[in-house]
Amino acid sequence: MAPGIRHIASINDLTNSEIERIFDVADNYLDSLGDPEFKHRIGESTDKAKGRILASLFYEPSTRTRLSFESAMLRLGGQIVTSADPATSSVAKGESLADSVRVVSNYADVIVLRHPRDGAARLAAEYANVPIINGGDGAHEHPTQTLCDLFTLRRENKHLKDLNVAISGDLRGSRTIHSFVYALARFGANIMLMPAKGMELPAHVDARLREEFNCRTVPKEKYQRENSAIDALYVTPDKPHQLSLIPNVDIDEAVDVKLRKKIDVFYVTRFQKERWAQASGDYPKIDAKFLKEAKYAETSVLHPLPRVGELDVSLDSDSRAVYFRQAAYGVPIRMALIDLLIHSKDGLARYDGGFDATGRTLYDRPNSVGMRCANPNCIVHDPLERHYTRNKFWLMAGNEGAQRLRCIYCESDIEEYVVANSKKHEFNVMADGEHTDDTVFFRNEEDARQAGYRDKGKKRA
Ligand code: NCD
Repeated sequence: MAPGIRHIASINDLTNSEIERIFDVADNYLDSLGDPEFKHRIGESTDKAKGRILASLFYEPSTRTRLSFESAMLRLGGQIVTSADPATSSVAKGESLADSVRVVSNYADVIVLRHPRDGAARLAAEYANVPIINGGDGAHEHPTQTLCDLFTLRRENKHLKDLNVAISGDLRGSRTIHSFVYALARFGANIMLMPAKGMELPAHVDARLREEFNCRTVPKEKYQRENSAIDALYVTPDKPHQLSLIPNVDIDEAVDVKLRKKIDVFYVTRFQKERWAQASGDYPKIDAKFLKEAKYAETSVLHPLPRVGELDVSLDSDSRAVYFRQAAYGVPIRMALIDLLIHSKDGLARYDGGFDATGRTLYDRPNSVGMRCANPNCIVHDPLERHYTRNKFWLMAGNEGAQRLRCIYCESDIEEYVVANSKKHEFNVMADGEHTDDTVFFRNEEDARQAGYRDKGKKRA
């Protein structure tokens, strides 16, 4: 990875104060270039990015993300080059993403990438000489959608701290949700999950919310009587503490109080049909009838769009519907992000590590050595990228001292693995946390044996 270049692969590549700075710049663009008739729409242009070029590299369909990025760059006075159809680009000839971004880095000053594989943005960042912005990579993340979502709430005067945010639909496959829940937790909102059956948050996202973003989860039996639609509830860290200051209020009552409160935001998502074979029969459908309970009276309804039946069109004229404004804010938000990224002197390029930059140890081996990422949709399993990826994992401290491996590309976790020594050709060699340059990880003992390793008998804790 070229040093000093700023990439936005995850929402966690931005600090909270940087996110707020992007919002301030976006507010300024709306103030100075906004359409007087439609306050959420940019109606004029500037020359802030004159002479600069944005490349759109889209390997998956897109309307809002690509066109709002391109509109943003044109409104900034810059220019765009677009590759939006893999069938007409060199992918069709078998070119890797890694080679494509190396080449396109010479044609543009910033690249926005969309790709069907989880972790593609991080791989691209390893090969690019200009900033990569993740426009959605598989089911991993969609950080700029989250910027639009949070900015929309700010424009609606909804302050994230202690906001009750309900999220429904395909929480497993929606990359927008994965970026969104991290950001909500970081800004102190309460997250109420209402997944379609079998489409709960991925285990690694749930674990991160609890272990890294300090969310407290509330056991189902504590709220199911009150609100059976909610499947999981994440409470922000200081909430129980604040409430415990009220005499005679224990956590159970506190949760009851919270759930009797109104829902401030309802975020709807579509079934991600391109990622799963079929939807469960009872995919939640949100309409005026659903939202007629008193707790939804002042709810802002958001959706990243496109909608395909899960959000009734009759809501479009409802004052609680915010989703078309949310899509419009894609332009000022992306103007702000591009502006800050390309103006390195006072922009985001002086980034110093981001939210999630705690000292982490990297395990980095050739992809022919030991274990690969366990997520079958990870970019490391893309046949075109096999010469460009390595077996790279962050060593993460897990529960009760056990170590977890996090793929640096798709950020999914592996908890079960076997530790081996490549010099001695032995496995089960040491407890967690004692790794050396000769350490190799295998998925299981069988894989280690097949690679010619002998059992040393010292299993992980
Ligand atoms: C989202 C995406 O591509 O992940 N669309 C968007 O960028 N607004 C949501 C979706 O496709 O469901």
